[in-house]
Amino acid sequence: MTAARVRVSLRRESEDRSYDILIRRGALEELGAGNISLPPGSSYSIVTDSNVARLHGRRLKGALSKQYHEVDLVVFPAGEATKSLETASNVATRLNELSVDRNGVILTLGGGVVGDLAGFVASVYKRGIRYVQLPTTLLAMVDSSIGGKTGVDTPWGKNQLGTFHQPELVIADPDVLKTLPPQEMYNGLAEIVKCAIIADPAMFVRLRDLTKFDAETLSGFIVNACRIKARVVSTDEREANLRTVLNFGHTVGHAIERSSDYQLAHGACVFLGMLAESWIARHLGLLAESDFKEITELLQRLSGAAARPESLNPDMLVAYARADKKALSSTLRMSLPSKVGMMHSTRDGSFMVPVPQETFRHSIQYLKDVLS
Ligand SMILES: NC(=O)c1ccc[n+]([C@@H]2O[C@H](COP(=O)([O-])OP(=O)(O)OC[C@H]3O[C@@H](n4cnc5c(N)ncnc54)[C@H](O)[C@@H]3O)[C@@H](O)[C@H]2O)c1
Repeated sequence: MTAARVRVSLRRESEDRSYDILIRRGALEELGAGNISLPPGSSYSIVTDSNVARLHGRRLKGALSKQYHEVDLVVFPAGEATKSLETASNVATRLNELSVDRNGVILTLGGGVVGDLAGFVASVYKRGIRYVQLPTTLLAMVDSSIGGKTGVDTPWGKNQLGTFHQPELVIADPDVLKTLPPQEMYNGLAEIVKCAIIADPAMFVRLRDLTKFDAETLSGFIVNACRIKARVVSTDEREANLRTVLNFGHTVGHAIERSSDYQLAHGACVFLGMLAESWIARHLGLLAESDFKEITELLQRLSGAAARPESLNPDMLVAYARADKKALSSTLRMSLPSKVGMMHSTRDGSFMVPVPQETFRHSIQYLKDVLS
């Protein structure tokens, strides 16, 4: 059985904000049974969404109430639309009604929406309290629960209000994925494949044989992906340079997601983004033809059943990519692979490569050809 403890190492001169990611099947049951300890606190507030509350939240609250004195469940409606300042304010108001003080601990139980929103509340409630991430989607396990980026969406864009606030602990239990709708798996799978391309050639090879999406098979990939994200975040917490490699596939991917008015799933867009950005890497002479072929074959196989955009408009996508926070002035900049398991770095050590707008447009034409 796959089980691992991965360390996010954030020891700096004056403080140590390092924490563990515990990945183990049955971990939530163990937490409820008292076999895994939570950080000491005056209260524990499980913040979750309406779907996860029904499937896992109420049971966890019941189990934790046997171990700890003050345990509450704070529920908000599921869905990206509720990842807003208004919901954050409602959650904070509820915490206050429950008399949660500065020693209270928030337990974020859910996918990336819950983790981002409740992490954001934790970072500002009474000037910041501690929180533990309990991710319940594949995406949250391998990506959003690690690294301390929190935030809410605004009318002018996704994640436009946010903070860096690291959790005390992350506990990922692959068994909870049994209740996750299959289409949600693609979001996490895209991030796992991304990790293999940017940093793990051995995982890349194993992904070629991936056909089952059961908890045991996924556990190994979750551990690998968490190790990679933990390593990157430990080196570059604030995305000054190395952390930008995690954006591979996301510049084009975000533009496609936005052009679909967020109707297309994030994972489907990231798969397409990785195809287009691999094409760009090959076009710029950074990625050899053989590696390009290997990468695009894997991406196409694993994203086979994901939803596709109805149309792709290169001009609109360029405009959206330029508006993306990663595009400084009018120059598009991306992190691109140099081979399977390695990202290109420039002579001055930067992982961001300038990409001409014309090249971006051509990559969209390549995508259209792939999809036709
Ligand atoms: N902070 C970061 O570093 C980071 C990184 C990537 C993505 N994100 C954010 O993550 C969010 C997307 O996260 P997501 O894909 O997990 O979506 P999500 O949180 O909306 O969850 C998807 C759906 O699955 C349901 N769900 C969650 N766990 C379940 C389970 N075990 N069984 C059944 N249903 C379950 C949810 O209720 C929801 O309906 C976005 O807002 C994105 O901006 C943040």
